[in-house]
Amino acid sequence: MRRTGQTKWAELREITVDRDSTTQISRQIYLQLRQAIISRALPAGSRLPSSRILSERLQVSRTSVVTAFDNLLAEGFIEGKKGSGTFIAEHLPTVGGRGLMRAAASDSASLRMLSDAGYRYQDVLRESTVFNDRPFSPGRVSVDVPTIEAWRQITVRQAKSIATDVLGYGDLFGRESFRQVIAEYLRAFRSVNCTADQVIVTSGAQQGIDLAIRVLLNAEDPVWIEEPGYRAVQTALRAANIITVPVPVDESGLCVKVGLEKEPRPRAIFVTPSHQYPTGAVMSIERRYELLHAANEADAWVVEDDYDSEFRYEGAPLPSLQGLDQSSRVIYVGTLSKVLFPGIRTGFLVVPLDLVEAFRGARFLTDRGPPAAHHGVLEEFMREGYFTSHIRRMRQRYSSILEEFVPHLRSALEPFATIATPDCGMRFVAYLREDIDDREVAAEAARRGVVVRPISPMYLDGGGRSGLDICFTGYDRTLLMTAATRLGDSVRHVASRR
Ligand SMILES: Cc1ncc(COP(=O)(O)O)c(C=O)c1O
Repeated sequence: MRRTGQTKWAELREITVDRDSTTQISRQIYLQLRQAIISRALPAGSRLPSSRILSERLQVSRTSVVTAFDNLLAEGFIEGKKGSGTFIAEHLPTVGGRGLMRAAASDSASLRMLSDAGYRYQDVLRESTVFNDRPFSPGRVSVDVPTIEAWRQITVRQAKSIATDVLGYGDLFGRESFRQVIAEYLRAFRSVNCTADQVIVTSGAQQGIDLAIRVLLNAEDPVWIEEPGYRAVQTALRAANIITVPVPVDESGLCVKVGLEKEPRPRAIFVTPSHQYPTGAVMSIERRYELLHAANEADAWVVEDDYDSEFRYEGAPLPSLQGLDQSSRVIYVGTLSKVLFPGIRTGFLVVPLDLVEAFRGARFLTDRGPPAAHHGVLEEFMREGYFTSHIRRMRQRYSSILEEFVPHLRSALEPFATIATPDCGMRFVAYLREDIDDREVAAEAARRGVVVRPISPMYLDGGGRSGLDICFTGYDRTLLMTAATRLGDSVRHVASRR
């Protein structure tokens, strides 16, 4: 209500469109509005003209204006209210610079001068994921006695004979022999086309994503991301001031056609094709080719995050995008966080050969390479076959948990949720009836000691589905069943308040 009657300053703001420019029209509009908001030329709360009026005034397609508005909306510069229009946000995001943040800051600590990126980093963990030992908190895995025993024995053996290369600076990409083992594993398991020279051992997938952003993208480059998608990618791109273009996902994966309508020339495309995060969709083979074709046409990089594809319970895995790529544009990101355990902080990148030098430079400047000492243990664990046995046993374990747990959870959430049994991975989504707010359920469940992530905030454009992200691995059976019952109570409690 406060907003009605706000001066429509934006009506007076001159926006120009240069039709001869190589910059897309939607981007021109976006950049001008963004600048006006950051500089406070357009004050908080002022109303924007509708996309119809603005498109008529500028003589451009309505889609161009809608795309510009979508980006501003996704980045938190503007906000929409059903039926009353679009307004400059009251609380501006950190994107855009220190002047803005200094004005918005309320405590003295945040008045210190940071870099523009520093202000953006301040916000990264504001809505971060809860990691703890309560079901269904993510990031938990099962590790059984044979794995612990093998790990212990290898560690003791390695500790007795410290290799000389461990005493100095090691290889920027990780020990050559370790990279050989990783390359063999990726060729055999994931049909990744690579040699050890292309493998970079990282501190988890997240460092791989960070290096890829540093090496491949400039600020304000447009990049397709999945909608809904992985928050750590969304925020990493935003922290680098990249323009994220949310592209919807259906049951066959990223909707390439919609992506092309929204932004035909992305600089990069970030995807989780083996097991889309969070929906669980497996990208079909047709869609994989369609995506690679679109990337070729746009000369875009593809960053393939293959975070938990080892655990397939039904059907054969599809080849990785990297394995299908004929034009060396896919950067493959892998991790041992799921298949082994996250505390190991080990992942890997596979990059095209001609990018190796750039990645070496970026790696030198970030951490000078991974810790070789503890990779000796991992290397032996993988080379001697303990790794594949671990995967086999865990796949079996997770599959039998699912068999019992999914029907139990389904009946606990009846009739408020729909759950499809996942054929892959370590988590799934329980979709809620649309009249039930997933954030409210998550808050209610937390009061009962149960951790679930609402999926609606994973849609940057808003208007996403209501659902709960359920991680079922790393908890014992009784705990899972009790938590399912409590989650059912939480949903019923929220439904009864309506
Ligand atoms: C989509 C996705 N990518 C990657 C990861 C793993 O990240 P990291 O290897 O940094 O632990 C996760 C973990 O939850 C994930 O959900």
